[in-house]
Amino acid sequence: MQTKKATPSRHVVVVGTQWGDEGKGKLVDWLTETATGVVRFQGGHNAGHTLVINGKKTALHLIPSGIMRPGVKCYIGNGVVLSVGKLLEEIEGLERAGVVVRDRLFVSEACPLILPFHVTIDMAREAAKERSGSAKIGTTGRGIGPAYEDKIARRALRVQDLRFPERFAAKLSELLALHNHVLTTYLQGQQIEWPDSVKPYMVDGEVSFDAVYNEAMAHAQQLLPMVADVSKALNEAHLAGANLLFEGAQGTLLDIDHGTYPFVTSSNCVAGNAAAGAGVGPGLLHYVLGITKAYCTRVGGGPFPTELDWETEGTPGWHMSTVGAERGTTTGRSRRCGWFDAALLKRSAQVNGLSGLCITKLDVLDGLSELQLCIGYELDGERIDLLPMGADEIERCKPIYETMPGWDTSTVGATQMDQLPANAVAYLRRIEAVTGVPIHMVSTSPDRDHTILLNHPYQA
Ligand code: GDP
Ligand code: IMO
Ligand code: MG
Repeated sequence: MQTKKATPSRHVVVVGTQWGDEGKGKLVDWLTETATGVVRFQGGHNAGHTLVINGKKTALHLIPSGIMRPGVKCYIGNGVVLSVGKLLEEIEGLERAGVVVRDRLFVSEACPLILPFHVTIDMAREAAKERSGSAKIGTTGRGIGPAYEDKIARRALRVQDLRFPERFAAKLSELLALHNHVLTTYLQGQQIEWPDSVKPYMVDGEVSFDAVYNEAMAHAQQLLPMVADVSKALNEAHLAGANLLFEGAQGTLLDIDHGTYPFVTSSNCVAGNAAAGAGVGPGLLHYVLGITKAYCTRVGGGPFPTELDWETEGTPGWHMSTVGAERGTTTGRSRRCGWFDAALLKRSAQVNGLSGLCITKLDVLDGLSELQLCIGYELDGERIDLLPMGADEIERCKPIYETMPGWDTSTVGATQMDQLPANAVAYLRRIEAVTGVPIHMVSTSPDRDHTILLNHPYQA
């Protein structure tokens, strides 16, 4: 006879619905009041999440945003590309701040490694594009794309290879032969000024085997105690009644398939990849929360239909950029800013199967007299209401706007809908109506506690 569990597990996926930096980290941290485990399932240290707890800021890149809640287990799933050096740096930074990390962080043995030559290739390629005059992707320069290429080409070194020095050395030497060939032939003419992070590995224009190997072996000593079969651990946690949170990085329009290709990152950022990137079945993804900024931002190159002039003082775009402090957590670059795009959000809702939205940074719009809401585009003389696929088509989209009145009272720190001005509520209701996705949460400041809850993702 089967007995019914008293507290069945419930698992939530958190994804960004725009071009990243929607405030996922803040909401993941908030939700870990209920979740007992948080899993990263794609991307790498290209991600940058800022959490603000009791006024204190913490920036995270690789470590799941549940780490600030004592006792919450944090998992790095097989879908993540891992720079062990960057992970150790991040752990040490948290430990200096008094956060216990190592005994509750579990790293999948199947994660492909980001090694120094991936960074070298990433940078050399961007430099080559710049010189040839073709549009740069504007990558974070972290080696993400080249590391995923090695994974898909079935030649990547993975975390589990670190257990076996001879196996690691043999694979590394094969991989380096290939990449050094490309560097010295195709990319060498770029005369790149290597940044300090890459210089120690470069000898005569090539990446040195010894430098990479010796460092990897030293890192392995520290990493291996945290290495685990993450898929097994998550499935066991599920059976034991745990509530898990699958934490997406980047955003849906940066997804390798569904984003503004080729101006995208190199992984699937959509909710469905939470299953493959963590090692659980799709039936365990019970609820998908789409984190959505009340306007849009984008870092790096690529089309952005509702982009505004965000550099001229006094303009709405400048207001978003300055009040929203729109600078990247990872690279410090300015984020481009523009109006909310409901046609883009419909694409996101479709490819993620969103259960609900969390609208973030509503407070940033305080003080704007009018807001424009993009409800569709004109593309080659036709009116469409869904973002098309791929950069070339999106580049030709001319947004169609609805104008809505702004509000001049502050929404900063609101924790209840009835604390919001009527025009802010009307703006939120219009977003729901146009996108067809219910708003379940609203965020009104960077602080963990400044959050309006309408439907709890773990109970909805
Ligand atoms: P993520 O990459 O999606 O986790 O987002 P980031 O942390 O890179 O960027 C979001 C930024 O907005 C961070 O600096 C957050 O502290 C901040 N933030 C998050 N939610 C809010 C909000 O509701 N209002 C304001 N003003 N800032 C917010
Ligand atoms: P979070 O998790 C915003 C962008 C880069 C570039 C493109 C490809 O903080 O939301 P990559 O280095 O991944 O090959 O760069 O993707 N990008 C992000 N933009 N937020 C991020 O992460 C990003 N991660 C990558 O700017 O345009
Ligand atoms: Mg970010």
